[in-house]
Amino acid sequence: MVPKGALRTSVRILHTQSMRPSSDRQAVLVLDFGGQYTQLIVRRVRELGVYSEMAPFARAERAIRELNPAAVILSGGPMSVTAPGAPDLDFSLLGDRPVLGICYGQQLMAARLGGRVSHAEGREYGRRELTWTKEGSFLEGLESPQVWMSHGDEVEAPPTGADIVARTETCPVAAFADPGRRLYGVQFHPEVSHTPAGKEILRRFLFDEAGLEADWTSASFIEETVRSIREEVGQGKVLCAVSGGVDSSVMAALLTEAIGERAVCVSVDHGLLRKGEAEQVRDTFTRHFHPRLVVFDERDRFFGALAGVTDPEAKRKIIGEQFVRVFEDHADDLKDCRFLAQGTLYPDVIESGSPTAAKIKTHHNVGGLPAWMKLKLVEPLRWLFKDEVRSVGRALGLGEEVVDREPFPGPGLGVRILGEVTPERVRVVQEADWIFRSELRARGLHRGIWQSYAALLGDVRSVGVMGDERTYENPIVLRAVQSEDAMTATAVPIPFEALEHIATRIVNEVKGVNRVLYDLTSKPPATIEWE
Ligand code: XMP
Repeated sequence: MVPKGALRTSVRILHTQSMRPSSDRQAVLVLDFGGQYTQLIVRRVRELGVYSEMAPFARAERAIRELNPAAVILSGGPMSVTAPGAPDLDFSLLGDRPVLGICYGQQLMAARLGGRVSHAEGREYGRRELTWTKEGSFLEGLESPQVWMSHGDEVEAPPTGADIVARTETCPVAAFADPGRRLYGVQFHPEVSHTPAGKEILRRFLFDEAGLEADWTSASFIEETVRSIREEVGQGKVLCAVSGGVDSSVMAALLTEAIGERAVCVSVDHGLLRKGEAEQVRDTFTRHFHPRLVVFDERDRFFGALAGVTDPEAKRKIIGEQFVRVFEDHADDLKDCRFLAQGTLYPDVIESGSPTAAKIKTHHNVGGLPAWMKLKLVEPLRWLFKDEVRSVGRALGLGEEVVDREPFPGPGLGVRILGEVTPERVRVVQEADWIFRSELRARGLHRGIWQSYAALLGDVRSVGVMGDERTYENPIVLRAVQSEDAMTATAVPIPFEALEHIATRIVNEVKGVNRVLYDLTSKPPATIEWE
């Protein structure tokens, strides 16, 4: 497994855009004005079966040229449309496409298309109830009138020719519509779950008003992607670095579907996988979908390089570098490969293009591949969200044990052992992790958990007593979080009785541990991993 994005630093990598699935399908462009929920809009549209991408408002012209969208949605944003230098849009770029403006997007439509926006002193924030003001509008007869508001400015007059179709007690133009020109605006956020009928509103816009049809399915994605992989790769061989995680497994399955054994699947056993995982990856590959998996057993190399290192960033760097060395040392085995396939996902793509994202950890940027490889990058999943990757995996016939796996960090247990990483510490954390996760599974508590794991506080020791003997050993921390996309997370409320039982088992069964803690911290302020 090459840690995700390990190649981004290498200038030799030739990026390909040709696998964009939208070449000849209808698509919705979501223009981002800096809103908190823009990614959610894209997800909701896709959940409704229509392909969608987001682009920053400043790149509207290029995005429209490349995507040729059948409809456009304008997102919310934190600024006031009346403020100097506020994000703007030349509406003539949109032609006569149907447009839905949400919050800031709605205000911008009003401000630029003949309406009026007034600047409010405070913000309106929270649940409100809609009253329909126009018969037969796209909002009429919704099952729930509840909507989520979060705005400062508000629309005073809708664009020329548009009707006000809903208001709330405090907001006179909660929504407008001009079905003739197919222009729609809502002050509230239909994309968030606090607007119960939000998905229905988006459905009505896309299908009833804009006339689109649902055609974005796993099967159509697979068909198009397999075709474009074949075109792209020709008779070449592709190196597929697999970790056993969902993304790289689905990526490898897609490549195998497209080019059979010319997809050369390679797994690096760095000794930092969870208990039984290396065997599981081997087993899954050979049994389920690929007859051959090349495994490089590199445990000694990684432990050697990590000896004496305690700093989290230094550990990540070393692990990334050692991957490079593994590929260098196996040059002969891999010299026929002209392409390298990675399991990059759409959130990684969005994040890496964001000018504001601060770097907390060297997540996806832990090295580079050897320059001699001159590989061309193939990233068939770079337009998908995680749940879509899982559906594609299912459609490709991958078993639940692959598709429903929890995400696992590229540096593996290296970031779950605080302090120096040694084979003995790996054993301790593997055993504790195994007990924790099998107990959750046995009790049915694993459902709905995003990630669950054990970490070892390698540099902390505490005093205990076991069978009349004094102990002086390390604590294990258990962490289980719920999350939608790993950007935020909260601790799972595991019943106390279960935690107590798990703690007792770990202390009794795992030599070297005499205390067990449960991590209650959400992200933010903590992160999901400890390092
Ligand atoms: P944090 O700890 O930043 O993690 O809240 C967010 C998600 O990313 C995973 N993670 C990684 N994934 N390479 C990866 O591919 C990495 O270096 C890495 N570090 C953290 C983490 O498990 C969680 O799902």
